[in-house]
Amino acid sequence: MGKFSVSSFVKAKKNGEKITMLTAYDYSTAKLFDNAGIDAMLVGDSLGMVMLGYDDTLKVTVDDIIHHSRAVARGCKEAMVVADMPFLSYHVSKEESIKNAGRLIQEGNAQAVKLEGGIEIIDKVKGIINAQIPVMGHLGLTPQSVNIVGGYKVQGKSEKQAQKLIDDALALEKAGVFAIVLECVPAELAKIVSERLRIPTVGIGAGNKTDGQILVYQDMLGMYSDMAPKFVKQYANIGGQMETAVKDYIKEVKDTSFPEKKHSFSIKEEVLKKLY
Ligand code: KIV
Ligand code: NA
Repeated sequence: MGKFSVSSFVKAKKNGEKITMLTAYDYSTAKLFDNAGIDAMLVGDSLGMVMLGYDDTLKVTVDDIIHHSRAVARGCKEAMVVADMPFLSYHVSKEESIKNAGRLIQEGNAQAVKLEGGIEIIDKVKGIINAQIPVMGHLGLTPQSVNIVGGYKVQGKSEKQAQKLIDDALALEKAGVFAIVLECVPAELAKIVSERLRIPTVGIGAGNKTDGQILVYQDMLGMYSDMAPKFVKQYANIGGQMETAVKDYIKEVKDTSFPEKKHSFSIKEEVLKKLY
């Protein structure tokens, strides 16, 4: 199949093939998802919540993303790796934004970066793309704006908000982004945006008319219970399986049924005799 790339995104939309994405934050998980055939993995700043236990994504640093992205990249043979630009890494100046995006590529071994926002960050987006770094946009619910918005809510329900989302998407496409994540927007609006754009949209809580889908893997595998968004489908209860397995382990260690002989190493009888 060959490594999924920026041009694969555009080709997939042209051919009407849905793009599949999940988040990933470490080598072992990335390898499993890569083997399963996922198109691309996002090293999301959601790692602040699901991997590090923060209340929101705002405390995540460029160094945090690099640390996880390097690990994910080692597990990806076919899947493309997209690294999130964290809060404040692309807000101060164009120069700083390019440097930080460059670090995610050079040190994080990602193939592309993702930024939250539209027209208000368009000069940063252009600067990063001019530096030959592919950019993915992210519109709708943008978790780095939690303190301005006042929570995590569906975006684009009013005419004004919906029109702004369409304008932002068109501006991002014009600036040269290769795809746009649409998070928590009405399905009909996501459909309109997807039809208006040549580049693909990747939805999360945006209905099934987007050109692809992404989920946080802990959500879809039942491994994170601090939040349960309506848009998540739980495909497995790995969290439950882990808890059961750990309980079995504790029990077997306590009652010495683990380890068994087959898990243990032996020593020759004549050597053993000399030890007493
Ligand atoms: O950080 C993240 O996981 C994301 C996805 C939810 C799109 O930005
Ligand atoms: Na994110």
